Amino acid sequence: LTDTYTLNNGVKIPIVGFGTWQSKDGAEAYEAVKAALKAGYRHIDTAAAYGNEESVGKAIKDSGIDRKELFVTSKLWNDDHGYDSAKKALDLSLEKLGLDYLDLYLIHWPNPIKFRNEWQEKNADSWRAMEEGLDNGKVRAIGVSNFRPHHLDELLKTAKVTPAVNQIFLNPSDTEDETVAYNNEHNILSEAYSPLGTGKIFTIPELKDIAAKYDKSVAQIVIRWSLQHGFLPLPKSVHADRIQQNTDIFDFELSDEDVKVIDGFHGVAGLATDPDTATF
Ligand code: A2P
Repeated sequence: LTDTYTLNNGVKIPIVGFGTWQSKDGAEAYEAVKAALKAGYRHIDTAAAYGNEESVGKAIKDSGIDRKELFVTSKLWNDDHGYDSAKKALDLSLEKLGLDYLDLYLIHWPNPIKFRNEWQEKNADSWRAMEEGLDNGKVRAIGVSNFRPHHLDELLKTAKVTPAVNQIFLNPSDTEDETVAYNNEHNILSEAYSPLGTGKIFTIPELKDIAAKYDKSVAQIVIRWSLQHGFLPLPKSVHADRIQQNTDIFDFELSDEDVKVIDGFHGVAGLATDPDTATF
């Protein structure tokens, strides 16, 4: 869990992160992050929109772990696009988390409904604010989430800094081949949110057979699959035993053949939300 990838700006990022989406604010998010830190996770992924930054921050603080050992990500919510708004939103996330800096700050969605006819300008303006955050030390790396190639093409027209990360819905049910290829070409790390397909991958019977073969759980198989593709999985759970189980993935390797089998479950457990038609 302390193994790292190196981002395109040289910053190191632990190769598995703990996702906190759907961890409700208050006790649940607090306990989940506490359990994750205890299990050895050093990379915590949150967002303003999850409404749990205060609890996540408190769990981090109470852990007593040195800030420098942790990697913390948050995200700019859809309502806060634009230069001034993005600067304020970053400050507010830092305040809620109780941190002096974020390791990574992402634009959460490329095309919010509120700005649907001006997403190009809005992303460019937000990005400028984020680049400033990089310059003044409020963030160590900046990136995007849910961006498809046409959104990235547009952003790169005005960006001074290439996104370090594109965090997308990425699991055996949706391998997002075009976006992953684009990310790879531009040296943008593909982070995988919902690496377990929000829990739906457990309905794929063939995965149970593969898991039995390796004497691992289906979750472990799928997280391992994500790593073997070079993705950065962000599994989430609110149960301490599963949080622990999802870290026990470094003592085995899937064969190329099994990786290909797992590549073949497209669509069976849901697909990514289309960012250009999302209703938020
Ligand atoms: P829970 O939080 O109740 O443990 P994803 O990371 O793709 O969004 O998937 C998260 C979902 O998968 C949650 O519903 C979570 O449930 C469940 N989950 C996470 N880890 C495991 C595991 N090791 N075994 C079974 N279910 C898991």
